Amino acid sequence: MYSRIIGTGSYLPAKTVTNFDLEKIVDTSHDWIVSRSGIHERHMAADNELTSDLALQASINAISAAGISANEIDLIVVATTSPDQIFPSTACILQDKLGIQNGSAAFDIQAVCGGFVYAMNIADLYIRGGQAKTALVVGAEVLSRMLDWNDRTTCVLFGDGAGAVVLRASETPGIVACKLHADGSHRDMLKADGNVRNGVVQGDPFIKMEGQAVFKFAVKVLSEVVEEVLEENNLKGSDISWLIPHQANIRIMEATAKKLGLSMENVVVTVAKHGNTSAASIPLALDTAVRDGRVKAGQNILLEAVGGGFTWGAILIKW
Ligand code: ACO
Repeated sequence: MYSRIIGTGSYLPAKTVTNFDLEKIVDTSHDWIVSRSGIHERHMAADNELTSDLALQASINAISAAGISANEIDLIVVATTSPDQIFPSTACILQDKLGIQNGSAAFDIQAVCGGFVYAMNIADLYIRGGQAKTALVVGAEVLSRMLDWNDRTTCVLFGDGAGAVVLRASETPGIVACKLHADGSHRDMLKADGNVRNGVVQGDPFIKMEGQAVFKFAVKVLSEVVEEVLEENNLKGSDISWLIPHQANIRIMEATAKKLGLSMENVVVTVAKHGNTSAASIPLALDTAVRDGRVKAGQNILLEAVGGGFTWGAILIKW
């Protein structure tokens, strides 16, 4: 038994914030942001929009593309680092907003920018193990609320959005292989270490990052994990039709593609318009490439991501 993606969907909040808008808030420039990250603009949720609202729209689009009814979904996994509230999980809130009342499992997973590959691996295992037939896997973030708008080293990099896929049990792959890793010893390189104690925020609730260290670590582990997945499946970089990376930074994507011997023409890039949307970036990029017709039946698709933790992983898909 395998799992196969039968529908994708995404959602971006209406408001866009350009680099020129940011020039008015912090000491930065459009040229600096583009040359260092490849980002031109990002979307930002409205004050009354929650992570679950973004997830809901992306899910509705994925469910519609899959041509199923929401009540067929028997597992919801939401990857997010910016949940609506401390609890219940955003997945439970999403289940309610979708009107699903079949009692099936719903939970969040938190692996920061690595969240979507973690969530996909979990849903794939549920389906392979026979515990679910139709899973909704969502990456949704409102990271703009965790940014220090006085810190130019972080606030220019992130955006809000959501992406979703419907995975269904199938006799043929589908998801061919998943590889996940984590190394908590690097947890201070990228963090928001605040927590709530007795009703008061302790520590720092904003994202802090050692940019250059993250950059080097990301290039190293992403290259390793994509090679690991390809080797184990007797494939070469040239067998991959589309590399769909976590959209953190164009230079990280270029470095990973180079290691794989892939041209940037085989890499789906949405970072210019979306910024880094953390767990949402891969399903947003995937949905973009599915809907514009780049992703086609029979192609080998490779997803890869790295995020705070550190967590990282890759997923090989036969479309
Ligand atoms: N605008 C203008 N100047 C800036 C800005 C800004 N927004 N931010 C930093 N600078 C300045 C710095 O203060 C520094 O000035 P100084 O030399 O006077 O001290 C100068 O630019 C160079 O700073 P660096 O940090 O060395 O810049 P770098 O080339 O490393 O680029 C960046 C910074 C873009 C963060 C880069 O390190 C990077 O891409 N790191 C990867 C991090 C990443 O992508 N994180 C996303 C989250 S993690 C994930 O998703 C995997």
